[in-house]
Formats: sequence, structure tokens, C-alpha cells
Amino acid sequence: MGEGEGACLIRLRFASAGESHGPAEVCIIDGIPAGLALDPAVIDVDLARRQRGYGRGGRMAIETDRVRVLAGIRLGRTLGTPICLMVENLDHQSWRPQMQPEPFPGWTPERMTVPRPGHADLGGLAKFGHEDIRDVLERASARETVARVAAGAVARTLLREVGVEIRGFVRGIGGVTIPMDFAGMSPAEVDWDAVESSDCACPDPGVEIAMRAAIDRARERGESLGGVFEIWAWGLCPGIGGYGSPGDRLDGRLMGAVGSIPAIKGVEVGLGFRAAGLHGSAVHDPLLPSIPPGQSVLRGTNRAGGLEGGLTNGMPLVLRAAMKPIPTLTAALASVDLRDGAAASAHRERSDIEAVAAARVVGEAMVALELADAYLQKFGGDSVQEFAGAVARYEETLGERGLWRRS
Ligand SMILES: Cc1cc2nc3c(=O)[nH]c(=O)nc-3n(C[C@H](O)[C@H](O)[C@H](O)COP(=O)(O)O)c2cc1C
Repeated sequence: MGEGEGACLIRLRFASAGESHGPAEVCIIDGIPAGLALDPAVIDVDLARRQRGYGRGGRMAIETDRVRVLAGIRLGRTLGTPICLMVENLDHQSWRPQMQPEPFPGWTPERMTVPRPGHADLGGLAKFGHEDIRDVLERASARETVARVAAGAVARTLLREVGVEIRGFVRGIGGVTIPMDFAGMSPAEVDWDAVESSDCACPDPGVEIAMRAAIDRARERGESLGGVFEIWAWGLCPGIGGYGSPGDRLDGRLMGAVGSIPAIKGVEVGLGFRAAGLHGSAVHDPLLPSIPPGQSVLRGTNRAGGLEGGLTNGMPLVLRAAMKPIPTLTAALASVDLRDGAAASAHRERSDIEAVAAARVVGEAMVALELADAYLQKFGGDSVQEFAGAVARYEETLGERGLWRRS
């Protein structure tokens, strides 16, 4: 995201810093217009959602993530200047000697020299010339996603001002999946209250029971699991994104943003990979006239998942991401000790068994950042009034031209 975390933000800037066991995660988000009402409690709600989930490990019992606003918000409103957010790592207390910026007198930390398969350990040692894997894993850890979620909550608040909502749910964990009878027409197809009250963020209580059983079995075997989450964004007007240059295309931007989340190994929009095996007539969404004609162009299906030609088409955005099983296993995987090249068991640090429900909150944040950026790119505005006014005028024009109406 420009200088940030793997997405391609153009108008917004986002950067984060923080080691997993360092004092805090911090982020700067720049480009949010002035005058946006922003209650830190709203950010805390998403931070708490990121911490939940049936298969989470011991770390989540230690941390109670709360945001502290360091800059850019005064008396409950954004100033239009860079926003700086900080979330303390409570676990830092027990790691202080290890995580000091300067050497701790008379004490040398034990070096970690056995790379964990599935992590950045080996590549990170190679890239930076480090000799202690801790120099890699502290930043490569998914603890970093706290900063993304905090920034995403700000972006989400901005999008709400122009009628855009973003929510995600878990479709599958460890092969236990909600059947994919995909329609993608209306967010009312998903029971969002059930999602939020579910330990697995799954809207189907029957499937959730099977998911929990799969997680229990994995725990007993010292195993880990992955899964699939689905993100919906609705209230989007058509024409957001672009096709003029490869980097304008909203599909690529969203896929890059969601694909930059640790452990995400595939992202699809609408029918996604299934479209490749179907006839064109079973994939594309015919246009229908409104009644009376000329009011709006309608669709009877949303197989495209809200994106055509790199642009929003006025239908809900539906995006899915596949998360690989957590790479740290209780039954440790085989590795090599780099001190002598001999076979060794991979280092095991306290770990989740699965974290798909948490990853979907990060997914919501990345989609929010990317959509807020695309909206700001099109509509600009130094204040929220300017921004929202430009969106309203554009949507009015779309209605007058018979292209689209907000429902
Ligand atoms: C919310 C979340 C929580 C995660 N928790 C863990 C964990 O507890 N243990 C672990 O080994 N990996 C965890 N991961 C996955 C690793 O961070 C990730 O697999 C690793 O950084 C390697 O990156 P890659 O999978 O993208 O190649 C988590 C990922 C996310 C998104």
C-alpha cells in the first residue's frame, strides 16, 4: 500500500511499525479528510474482533488490545493531517530484556537458529544477513495485523459516511465448509448477527459445530488448520477503480491488499476460480431494465462479485480468501539447525491452531483501506463535507443518466 503493507494505496498513505513482543504496534494513516467523527471505541471494537476465535492460542489471553490516539484526532474529529495510532503489546512486560533497543548489560540472548517451515525465518535470515531468527520473526509475526485493523477501522468509518458497509464471515475451516451456492446479490443473504455471536465467525450454527469439532481434533493431534473467509462490501456506487493502467484496476488492488495478509494463499472475486470451468452464459450477469424503464440498470445475478473491468459495477463486492494452516505446530515439523546443519525440530512458540475468524477482520480492514483510497482518488476532498458532497453529486448524476440508483 504505497509505502505500507502490500496493497497499492494511491491517495491514502499507511505505514506501520512494531515487533510482536516489542512495546507496541503503531501506524500512521495519512489522507483521511478533516472533520470525520471518530471515536476510539469504534477502533477497539475491531481490535477485539481480531482477537476472538475458537482456535486461538495463549497470546490472545494475555493481550487486551486498546488503541491510543497519538495524533491527527482532536475532540473526536479528524484534523485532516496524519493520524497516528498505537496499540500496546501487554506481553512485552515478560520480554523486556529480549526486546531492548540497546544490549542488556551482562546478558546475551540465546540465538534461535532452527528456521520454522512456513514462516519468513529462512528467507529473512538470507535477506537481511541476520543470524538470530528472532530478528526476523518479531516483525514477520501476524501481530503486525493489529496496526492494519486499527487503520482499517478509520477507513471503514470514512466509508460509512458515504453509505458503504464492509463485513466478513468464515466460510470454511479445515475443510468444513458452508456450501457454496453462490448468489452474492444482497448482504441480507448473510445472518451478520449470527456471524458476530459465533466463535468461528460462521453464520451457520450447524457448520460451526462441525468446525469446532475439526479444531478440537486438530488440537489433539498437535496439528493446525486453515480455511476460507468471505468479505462483502455494499453501498458501492459504480465507477470506482479504473482500467486505464494496470495499477488502477480495483480487482488487482483488492487482491494484492488481501493477499498481503500473512498466510493468505489465494484471493478470488465473485465466482472466482469456479468461473474458469463454466460457460460464459453461466458466469456473466445480464443487464435488465428497471420498471419503469430508464430509472436504473438492474442485474438478476452478481456472479462478478461487484467488479467488472477493474471498476465497481454498483453490485455488492464479494471477495474470498484462502488461508493456509498455521505453520507453527505443537507436533513440531522437521527443520535444520543452522549452527551445524544437523536435523532438528522446528522451534515452537505459543501459537494459534487456526485464526481464520481473526484473519477475516484483517481482510475487512484491508478492503476498507483499499476502497477508501479508491473513493478518495475519485472524489478527493480535504474535509468530509467536501468528500461526501462530491459522492452525493456523482450518485445523483448516475440516477439522472439511468445508470444506477442507491437502494
Ligand atoms: C490473524 C493471524 C494469526 C496468525 N497466528 C499465527 C500463529 O499463532 N502462529 C503461526 O505460526 N502463524 C500464525 N499466523 C500465520 C503466519 O503469520 C504466517 O503464516 C507467516 O507469517 C508466514 O507468512 P505466509 O504464510 O504469508 O507465507 C497468523 C496469521 C494471521 C493472519
